[in-house]
Amino acid sequence: MRGTGFQSIVVLTGAGISAESGVPTFRGPDGLWEGHRVEDVATPQAFRRDPALVQAFYDARRAALARVEPNAAHRALARLDAEWPGDLLIVTQNVDDLHERAGAVRMVHMHGELKRAFCLACGERQTAPDTLSDGPACTRCGAHGRLRPDIVWFGEMPYHMDRIEAALAACDLFVSIGTSGAVYPAAGFVQGARHYGAHTLEINLEPSEGTHVFHEARHGRAGDLVPLWVGALLDRDRFRLNQPET
Ligand code: OAD
Repeated sequence: MRGTGFQSIVVLTGAGISAESGVPTFRGPDGLWEGHRVEDVATPQAFRRDPALVQAFYDARRAALARVEPNAAHRALARLDAEWPGDLLIVTQNVDDLHERAGAVRMVHMHGELKRAFCLACGERQTAPDTLSDGPACTRCGAHGRLRPDIVWFGEMPYHMDRIEAALAACDLFVSIGTSGAVYPAAGFVQGARHYGAHTLEINLEPSEGTHVFHEARHGRAGDLVPLWVGALLDRDRFRLNQPET
C-alpha cells in the first residue's frame, strides 16, 4: 500500500458476479456447464470434433444475454469505475456483457466475449451476428461458415495478458469477486499481486480454492457485498482527500 490509501486497483471477476443476474456459473454442484462437460464445449478439440454442437451452445448463451440484466454488483463496479480517482482495471473472466451494460469502461475480457466472433479464414475479429450456426459470412473476407466464437477455450492464450500483468505489478489493492480460483492464469493473479506488495481481498459466496492466499475474505452474495465494499472504499478515499496534509 502506498501512502495512507490505495491508488491503483485491479478487480478480477468471475461467473459468481453474474449469478444473481441469472447467468449460470461454470462449476455447478453437478460439475456441468448448462448440461455439458466443459471439455465438450470449451476446447478447440471439441470445436473440431463437433462444430455444430459448439456453435449451437454459444448461440444459446448469446441469445440468453437478452434475458438478463446487470445486478447490484455490476452497478457498484461501474460506480467505482466512474468515481475512483486512481488507476483501475476490471479484469473479467466472463464472456457476458453485463459489466459494460452497467457502465464499466476501464475493463477487459480476458476470456473473450459472446458478442464477438473471429474468422478462421482471415483472422478478422468482428461483432458476432445473433447466430453463428448458420454459417454467416465474414465481414472482411466474405468467407462463409468460418466464423467462430471469440471465446478463449482451454488450451488457448487469454487476452490482454500484458496489460493485466502490468496492472497487477502496479496495483496496491487486488480484489477477486465471484470466482472459484480453479482456472489459471486468473487463479494466480492473487499471488502475483501479493508478490508486488498489494493488499488482497476475496469476495465470494464461499471460500474459493485459493482463499488462504488472500489477506482478507468476505463470504456472501456479490450483490450484497460488492456495493458495501465500493461504498466504503469511495467514502474512505473522499475522507482521506479532504484531510489537510500533515
Ligand atoms: P466458477 O463457476 O468456477 O466459480 C464461480 C464462483 O462464484 C464459485 O466459487 C461460487 O461459489 C461463486 N458464486 C456463485 N454465486 C455467487 C454470488 N451470488 N455471489 C458471489 N459469488 C458467487 O466460475 P469462474 O471462476 O468464473 O473459462 O470460472 C473461471 C473460468 O472457468 C471461466 O471463465 C471459464 C470456465 O471454464 C473459460 O471459458 C476459458
